[in-house]
Amino acid sequence: MYYKDKVIWITGASSGIGEALAYSLNKKNARLILSARRTAELERVKANCQGDPGSIEILPLDLSDGSSLKTKADEAEALFGQVDILINNGGISQRALAVDAELESVRHLMEVNFFGTIALTRAVLPGMIRRGHGHVVVMSSVMGKIGTRYRSAYAASKHALHGWFDCLRQEVQQKGVDVTMVCPGFIKTDVTKNALTADGSKLNEMGDAHKKAMLPEEFAEKLLPKVSAGKQEVYIGGKEVLAVYLKRFFPKLLNKILMRAKVT
Ligand SMILES: NC(=O)c1ccc[n+]([C@@H]2O[C@H](COP(=O)([O-])OP(=O)(O)OC[C@H]3O[C@@H](n4cnc5c(N)ncnc54)[C@H](OP(=O)(O)O)[C@@H]3O)[C@@H](O)[C@H]2O)c1
Repeated sequence: MYYKDKVIWITGASSGIGEALAYSLNKKNARLILSARRTAELERVKANCQGDPGSIEILPLDLSDGSSLKTKADEAEALFGQVDILINNGGISQRALAVDAELESVRHLMEVNFFGTIALTRAVLPGMIRRGHGHVVVMSSVMGKIGTRYRSAYAASKHALHGWFDCLRQEVQQKGVDVTMVCPGFIKTDVTKNALTADGSKLNEMGDAHKKAMLPEEFAEKLLPKVSAGKQEVYIGGKEVLAVYLKRFFPKLLNKILMRAKVT
């Protein structure tokens, strides 16, 4: 019942986790706003949904275009009159050594994963606070809690989200706005194909760990009850999520394990 008739804005809804969340939430009779850059893919996701097409709107946007995002949030609010839940899911990963990754590609990654996410959130918050209820869900990563080789900017962007949103939670919890940080492990999507290499171009390969990882549909089904239960932080994936606990209690051991692990 938590999701029924709620207006839920999902970024990164054109593929992978965002697409799977759109289908799960559509089955729960939520009203959806689907965002990403690729309009044709958003139309495809909308067409695959069931029920009243009027309950789903698409709103193309580019998270790296910071100056456009306040207007996009105004447009999102105008579509159904409010945004009850914002799922900040759009993002890009990385496969480049820290020493090689060009600063321009690092900046782009931070613009999409961090600045774009907080810009949309800042823009929808006043409405949520005025109405006295709202929920902001943020797709971080196990990489938001630990670090491995080849993902320095990605891990930095996800760690930054935890800092920003943990502070925000303290500021808005008593105003009726919940914040849920989500840390997926390996989920079988195009995330590694779309990952940025040192010069900012796409990797265009699926990582070995992702080939046999959890499907996004299963991930979505596991996530939604945790969000509706108001969890503040959620870890979903295979045994890689244990790294979060190793980092907390045995950080040197985790470092040793990861130094030897194949992480590409
Ligand atoms: N899959 C995993 O193993 C995994 C693990 C941990 C965390 N995550 C996180 O989960 C989220 C979703 O990733 P995914 O696994 O579903 O990968 P994905 O299939 O590559 O999806 C990424 C989504 O982000 C959108 N996006 C990328 N750049 C954008 C931009 N500049 N503006 C707007 N939208 C943009 C993409 O749409 P367009 O290309 O159409 O813009 C796409 O819908 C990401 O935040 C990722 O970091 C994934």
